[in-house]
Amino acid sequence: MTSAISLFSPVEADLQVLAENLKKLVSAKHPILYAAAEHLFGAAGKRVRPAIVLLISRATMPDRDITPRHRRLAEITEMIHTASLVHDDVVDDAEIRRGIATVHSCFGNRVAVLAGDFLFAQSSWYLANLDNLEVVKLLSEVIMDLAEGEIQQGLNRFDSSLSLQAYLQKSYYKTASLIANSCKAAGILSEVSAELAADLYGYGRHLGLAFQVVDDILDFTGSTEELGKPAGSDLKGGNLTAPVLYALEEKPYLEVLIEREFSQEGDLEQALALIEESKGIERARELAANHARQAVAHLQSLPPSESRQALIDLADYVVSRMY
Ligand code: IPE
Ligand code: IPE
Ligand code: MG
Ligand code: MG
Repeated sequence: MTSAISLFSPVEADLQVLAENLKKLVSAKHPILYAAAEHLFGAAGKRVRPAIVLLISRATMPDRDITPRHRRLAEITEMIHTASLVHDDVVDDAEIRRGIATVHSCFGNRVAVLAGDFLFAQSSWYLANLDNLEVVKLLSEVIMDLAEGEIQQGLNRFDSSLSLQAYLQKSYYKTASLIANSCKAAGILSEVSAELAADLYGYGRHLGLAFQVVDDILDFTGSTEELGKPAGSDLKGGNLTAPVLYALEEKPYLEVLIEREFSQEGDLEQALALIEESKGIERARELAANHARQAVAHLQSLPPSESRQALIDLADYVVSRMY
């Protein structure tokens, strides 16, 4: 996997500070809750979301340094993301995340649910302390959207009539909403115009959708070692993503296998083979590339800068992960 790090060079020092701060910000009093919450911050993820917030902050503050509020927003964004992963791993019953055992497999479901709640609550507290009502509203909506997305996904399991539109809507709720709203919030902290704020939101929305489609492709094409989380688990769990939805158009027998929830021996293997024979992965790649292009188109009104260029390159990076 290409490292995202070199891309983040305009905000590398900022990301260092963020890594230190994230650990300090978790202030759970109970040792188990603390250990659970700290667990995932220790094993750093790719830090894509805080990097985007910091790059937008720098790109929208061309003549001034970014403020402590921009930095705090980046931290909150990563905290919300991490909380959503703790809950997502409970829902998916996933054993590993970021290359290490998940919170629920170390501490049990009960602690994992509470640790996720705790992180959400703590992010809300830091959010309120930004003292910017518009930003509070944007990020609170994200927390609702995350739950909405998980619920939609849960209700649509093994439903082979799921439309691509419904899949994209769920992906907005689960992934793109956080990126879009935190991009916009970074712009608001820089006091950009309403037009630019809308473009920043558009960048985040399309980049987030591309990111989720790529994640869904990697679930088919990647390995658990590469990804640091279980590969090949979406289909098995009935989570029908872009490659499957496209494959269904070509391979009607897939519907039979999905509707009986792969209950007969060899069903899952047969479904995977059908998807591989189809144009599903290829078409999903086109879908992701298309959203990445639309993301970049929203950056036109930003003044040229190193950070703006990094945001453009980030869209290429997201797309390059899928090859
Ligand atoms: C995982 O996000 C969840 C998705 C939205 C696909 P990341 O792939 O950014 O996870 P980390 O933060 O790097 O672990
Ligand atoms: C995104 O979706 C996760 C959240 C936003 C909570 P996935 O369910 O695809 O995430 P992974 O693959 O488990 O990281
Ligand atoms: Mg998951
Ligand atoms: Mg996934």
